[in-house]
Amino acid sequence: MKVFKIKEIKIFYDEKLDGGGTTFGQLYVPIVRKLIGKSKTCFEAFSGPAFIGFSLLANNLCEELVVADINPEAINYVKLTVSENNLSRKVRYYIADVLDGIPESERFDLVVGNPPHFNEFTISKYCHECSSIEMLKTYDAGWELHKRFYESIHKFLNNGANIILVENSEGSNEKDFIEFIQKGRLEYVNTIHPTLNDIIEALYINIRGLNLNFGISKVIKNLPYSIYRLAFLIGFRIYEPAIKNVSFYSKFYFIWSRYR
Ligand SMILES: C[S@@+](CC[C@H](N)C(=O)[O-])C[C@H]1O[C@@H](n2cnc3c(N)ncnc32)[C@H](O)[C@@H]1O
Repeated sequence: MKVFKIKEIKIFYDEKLDGGGTTFGQLYVPIVRKLIGKSKTCFEAFSGPAFIGFSLLANNLCEELVVADINPEAINYVKLTVSENNLSRKVRYYIADVLDGIPESERFDLVVGNPPHFNEFTISKYCHECSSIEMLKTYDAGWELHKRFYESIHKFLNNGANIILVENSEGSNEKDFIEFIQKGRLEYVNTIHPTLNDIIEALYINIRGLNLNFGISKVIKNLPYSIYRLAFLIGFRIYEPAIKNVSFYSKFYFIWSRYR
């Protein structure tokens, strides 16, 4: 079992359940802070161990959090995180097939999610012989999961609620989803590409969250954010791991819609 620590919250998980929530998923923190600010009830769909939702909560961008995933193992880790951090008054969790399994009484103000990113035409860019857990994390045949999500999410939304899903430009293009959004009684607002500042902040959350207490990681982990950011801005064009990280994080885009 591993622990990813964000401010005061320790998130428990198994590495095989991490679908990017510890890395590019942390781009949500600067993006939500800039675009939306604080919301009352946040929902993380396709949550896995809920790295994104717990991070929004730890960063004071949500008052309460609801999470759901089809994989009971992931929800068991969420349960552990809730009990170990005394969060039972702020966090609710469900095993759900997309949204089937979420009580009709739930209402959300902000929905985030890192769904499977590849369909039958693009999955080969990710892997050829995926294990079953990799398939569960990455494969959405015919975009059926996206379709079902956008078709029903309005039933759980307060007026003015924002929905921001993260997608991978190697697996899709925003045009794949705009029709589903409109059919789901939502208004497409924009597609957000992370800025260099967003990437630096997400990398900082990642490095501080992981228990890396050796070599340069230990030094970096203990730097204040302002110094880390400055060092990154000076060094990222010549330091190979930084260049690779910026190019990896830049593949992800955020598709923003709203319920009116
Ligand atoms: C890309 S992973 C994201 C996991 C985690 N949110 C993160 O960011 O690391 C996609 C998640 O979708 C979940 N999933 C796949 N099919 C699903 C379905 N039909 N209903 C709900 N969740 C599903 C998987 O179990 C997995 O946790």
